[in-house]
Amino acid sequence: MSKTLNGHSRSLHHLRVTLPGTTCYPLLMRNPIIVALDVPTAEQAIQLANALRGAVGALKIGSELFTAAGPSIVKEIKATGAGVFLDLKYHDIPNTVAKAVASATRMGVDMLTIHTCGGSEMMKAAEESAQKTALQAGVPAPLVLGVTVLTSMDQHTLSETGVGEDIGKQVERLATLAGQSGLRGLVCSPLEIAMLRQILPPEIQLVTPGVRGAGQDLGDQKRVLSPKEAMTAGANWLVIGRPIYQAANPRQAAEEILKSIGG
Ligand code: C5P
Repeated sequence: MSKTLNGHSRSLHHLRVTLPGTTCYPLLMRNPIIVALDVPTAEQAIQLANALRGAVGALKIGSELFTAAGPSIVKEIKATGAGVFLDLKYHDIPNTVAKAVASATRMGVDMLTIHTCGGSEMMKAAEESAQKTALQAGVPAPLVLGVTVLTSMDQHTLSETGVGEDIGKQVERLATLAGQSGLRGLVCSPLEIAMLRQILPPEIQLVTPGVRGAGQDLGDQKRVLSPKEAMTAGANWLVIGRPIYQAANPRQAAEEILKSIGG
């Protein structure tokens, strides 16, 4: 049985990792590449999903696509056989976030995001809702991922919000709080992976955008690592958008990235 970079069996399509005190998480472990479907229409997203069928670990549905296409897009993407990462970054009162997480869980998403700055009560409510709803619906619980400080923020924009803390320290604080609140995964910048691996329990899944291969256009990403560097630093999942969906042959682009990380 071959192993993925995450150390899990590659031959299992739906691998369930049991963590102490929790139910099982569904992790589509064929490979660690998650492609961001940052396209404006359902048609484009489905076309891309079909082109990438079987070649990537999961597909990410963000605010643009979800807002334009509606919840049915989750079902349509799942119908192509792909895992779904619903990246709507919930941030609201605990009760509302818990209900949103319940809805997403019933839709069968594999991963979803919440903002850690919503606080420990909100994070606990989200995790509990994912577990409870999954149990009731008889589906696997999604991996609830915490977003710390948005990578678009710098010291100045952070201080504008009233947070005087050093930005690195703020990421550390929120990541620690997320772990203490029961979250099992975080979204982080590639440059934060090494630091987070030092302070978090090893079972916490790290999902990182902002990765680029040598010679690839950075777009608006400023602080990047290569896919190989990010995996070596301790990432479990790589979120990659433009280098794949803007490629002349998205499937080939995904396969080349997978090869570059030894997949
Ligand atoms: O096209 P690119 O590879 O830069 O896309 C990265 C994806 O990851 C986009 O969907 C973007 O919204 C998302 N993302 C990011 N930086 C973060 C969080 C999410 O680029 N800090």
